[in-house]
Amino acid sequence: MSKQVLVTGGSGYIGSHTCVELIQAGYEPVVVDNLSNSEIDAIRGIEKITGKPVDFNKVDCLDVPALEKIFSTHNFVAVIHFAALKAVGESVHIPLDYYRNNLGSLINLLTLMMKYDVPNIVFSSSCTVYGQADVLPVTEQTPRKPALAPYGATKQMCEDILRDSIAAYGKLKGIALRYFNPIGAHPSALIGELPRGVPNNLIPFVTQTAAGIRPMLSIFGDDYNTPDGTCIRDYIDVVDLAKAHVVAVDRMTGGRSKADYEIFNIGTGRGVSTLEIVKTFEKVNNLKLNYKIAGRRAGDIEAVWADTSYANKELGWKAERPLEETLKSAWKWQQSLG
Ligand code: UD1
Repeated sequence: MSKQVLVTGGSGYIGSHTCVELIQAGYEPVVVDNLSNSEIDAIRGIEKITGKPVDFNKVDCLDVPALEKIFSTHNFVAVIHFAALKAVGESVHIPLDYYRNNLGSLINLLTLMMKYDVPNIVFSSSCTVYGQADVLPVTEQTPRKPALAPYGATKQMCEDILRDSIAAYGKLKGIALRYFNPIGAHPSALIGELPRGVPNNLIPFVTQTAAGIRPMLSIFGDDYNTPDGTCIRDYIDVVDLAKAHVVAVDRMTGGRSKADYEIFNIGTGRGVSTLEIVKTFEKVNNLKLNYKIAGRRAGDIEAVWADTSYANKELGWKAERPLEETLKSAWKWQQSLG
């Protein structure tokens, strides 16, 4: 049986780590990426870690003829769809780019999956679909709140497109993985997060501040209704997250899905504050971080973390790497960038 898996966005942060885990599990990832927010070096990193060549294709998922050529020349057992725009703030300023890209890519993929009889898809969703939930931690049944930014709206709409397509066409299966906050890097430090320009996300900003690239980290708000006043998130190691994708593909191809469309929370089940992240980063890496408390960031929610019991039980998957190790790996990766 073919073990080819189409990985869109496979040279990106989560995509590259997932390619490594797929190869190590015996799959053959075929990467499609337009390199709009990633570097070909990530592919070289995957090849170094695994010792296997990677089938890389510089293709945009909005380019239907180019995407169709990939489908017509391969025999995929599944698609893992990472490719998307993902900056919350930016999405407010260029919403049409977000809707066109994030919705269009998924629609093109599903259309081609049906044409070429590729039955299984794993979709990169996000805890952003919950917004500020009334009850924490959030379970997969927690109602979704109206999205605060176009980015979150695209994740909700993509989940709906997937659900409706699976229900209507009868030959597709899908799993939406709702990621919490992925952080850290592969232990080899050959792949990791590579933000372009000034990072939006906490950990790259922390590591760049520690490296002296940024003068100071701003902690956005210490007046939230949390024990230390800073926001709470569920920070999950990117390698643990990558492994969840392999389990999801195994589940669908092995006929173990409980329903044609399934949703899982992929987090650690533990809420950690921004200040705790900073303190832990300083402690495990034995350094001092220059930081100040700044005003709240528009659109931030106060707290969210996952109830992961359903994913743990149903997928037989669990986040394993301790936060300390993850924060060490993030620093090791930053240092490897020179
Ligand atoms: C958000 C989305 C997530 C999305 C991600 C993409 C939510 C709940 N989460 O993550 O789904 O995939 O954006 O980028 O909507 N912080 C600072 N200083 C900084 C940077 C961040 O204090 O310089 C704080 C933030 O206020 C936040 C925490 O660190 O409390 C994490 O921020 P970030 O890494 O940007 O992720 P989210 O906003 O949680």
